[in-house]
This record gives sequence, C-alpha cells and structure tokens, in this order.
Amino acid sequence: MNSESRLREKIKYMESVPSINRKLDRIISGDKNSVDNIRSYYKKNRAAYKRFHSDEGFMHFRVSKNGKLSDDDIYYQPNVISEHIKSGANVVELGSGMGANLLYLAKKHPDASFTGVDLCPAPIKDMPSNVRIIEHDYGDMPMIADDSVDVVYAVETIVHCSDKEKVFGEVRRILKPDGVLIVYDYALQRVFDELDETQKKAVALISKGAAAALIESAAEWERHFEASGLIKSVVNDLSKDTMPDLKRLASMAERVLERRISAWFFCTFFPLNFVGNIIVGYLGYDSFREGLIYNMEWIYRK
Ligand SMILES: C[S@@+](CC[C@H](N)C(=O)[O-])C[C@H]1O[C@@H](n2cnc3c(N)ncnc32)[C@H](O)[C@@H]1O
Repeated sequence: MNSESRLREKIKYMESVPSINRKLDRIISGDKNSVDNIRSYYKKNRAAYKRFHSDEGFMHFRVSKNGKLSDDDIYYQPNVISEHIKSGANVVELGSGMGANLLYLAKKHPDASFTGVDLCPAPIKDMPSNVRIIEHDYGDMPMIADDSVDVVYAVETIVHCSDKEKVFGEVRRILKPDGVLIVYDYALQRVFDELDETQKKAVALISKGAAAALIESAAEWERHFEASGLIKSVVNDLSKDTMPDLKRLASMAERVLERRISAWFFCTFFPLNFVGNIIVGYLGYDSFREGLIYNMEWIYRK
C-alpha cells in the first residue's frame, strides 16, 4: 500500500472485501453511543483491552515522550493528574473503566479520597479504603455534592458523550472554586462537515466503531468547556507522542484484516462491537499520521 494515502487505501480495501464491507455499513448506521451500546461495547471488549492495552487494566493510549514506545508510557496521564493532587484532596474520575488510574493514584496519594464513576465498572479485588466506584452515568452525579471536589479527571471517555456541555456543567457544579478538570481525548483537525467523503467515513468508523459520538474538532471541544464556565489553563497536542502506540495496534489489526481468511473469520464469528474495535485500531494510526485526528490534553479550572 502507498504510504502517502494509506487511510484512503485502507478504506477502499475494506470496501472491496465483502465480509468487512458488510460490517462497515452496520457500524456507521444508527446511534452507537447510547448508554446500552457503550455498556455492551466495553463488556465485549474488556478482555481485549487487558490483552492489547495493559494487563493492569489501563484502557488509554501510551504517551511516548521520547518517541519510542515503552510500557511505562501508560503512566503518562495518571502521572500528570498526580501532580494536581494535594494532601487530603477529593478526586473524581469520570469513566474509570477497570479502575487502573484510580488504583495507581490511590497508592501514590493514600491520604486523598478517590471516586470513580462509570457506566459498567469492572469488579475490583482488594479495593483500597480510599477508593469507591459508583456505577452511574457521569452526565448526572446527584451522589456528589456541589463545590466538594478538588480534581476531576477523564481519560479517553468524554468522546462517548454527545452532550459534552451537560457533562462539563456537572463537573463545574461538583468542583470547588479553583478546582481542576483534566481531560485526555480525541479531536478532529476540522469540523466533521468540512472533511472529504473518505475522511468522513474514516471518522465515522473510528467514532462509532468505539461506541463514541462523532469526534468533534478541538475548537468545538473548547467551546463546550467554555460554555460550561470553565477557564482554560493548559492545552497540549499529544498526537505525535501517541503515534508509537497507535502504530503497534495498527500492525496487529493489519494482520487480522489484511488476510482475507482471518478477516472473514473475525467478521463472521465475532460480535460487531469487537470487529468495530479492530477497525478502530486499523485506521487509528493513519488518521493521526495524516493529521485528521489529534490526541489532546486539556486542563481547565473552575
Ligand atoms: C476507554 S475507557 C477509559 C477507562 C479509563 N479512563 C482509563 O483510562 O483506563 C472509557 C470508559 O468510559 C466509560 N463511560 C463512557 N461513557 C460514560 C458515561 N456517560 N458515564 C459513565 N461512564 C462512561 C465506559 O464505560 C468506559 O469504562
């Protein structure tokens, strides 16, 4: 395949293989980020996340600051969050998943209290006494009082939400004055409607294949933060640093999808949510390399 337009070639290739092409339409059509579908996506992919992301249960990408992939790069996001946690702090993680960030941070900050809020949290053995996990939609957190939290963080989860202002409004309500919100998530280079047809198809497959809302541009994200009354403190583009991990996942997905027999096998016998995740891995690296999708770090204050 030509390295210059690999994303385009990959879409064309998938369209040319009937077993994959049939899945593309099913992935793109319909509302893929309903609460039920997000739950089903994570339940079906939990084992794959453990196997291919991190056996400790981290479900986000590694950020490789020196350009070379290392296992310690999975700690980049919790290490940045850790710098904002003071003694005795009250900390909330939105979309805590398998709880790996919470457990890592709770160990580093035994005198801080941690609450994870997730639609389908994985059960945790030996939960530390300073951690609680609540099964709930973080778009509405009545169990957390106004002005009570020092740090809220969300790693690769708010991309699932169509109504980000509702979530950021809830965050603003629970944060103490001068409290901090730290978000890691994906953004488009331009608004979706301005993309060409192939780029639109790639973005739709990546978003909906991962049970997310259509990914929004960085400018749209920033409007949502600001409409909620939060004040910008730090914005970093981590795309380049995410590429080594994306490349690792893409080469695994290529081995599955670019062999017709294995593509047929996975597309025929595995659930749509699992196939969707493989396609996300297949397209993710090239969508970053071609500047279509960014991985962003945003820090806002109340
Ligand atoms: C990619 S995982 C990230 C997990 C964790 N933040 C990490 O870095 O390992 C996204 C998580 O967000 C959760 N999630 C998505 N939308 C949610 C919502 N509206 N309310 C609560 N949890 C949600 C999913 O259930 C999933 O566990």
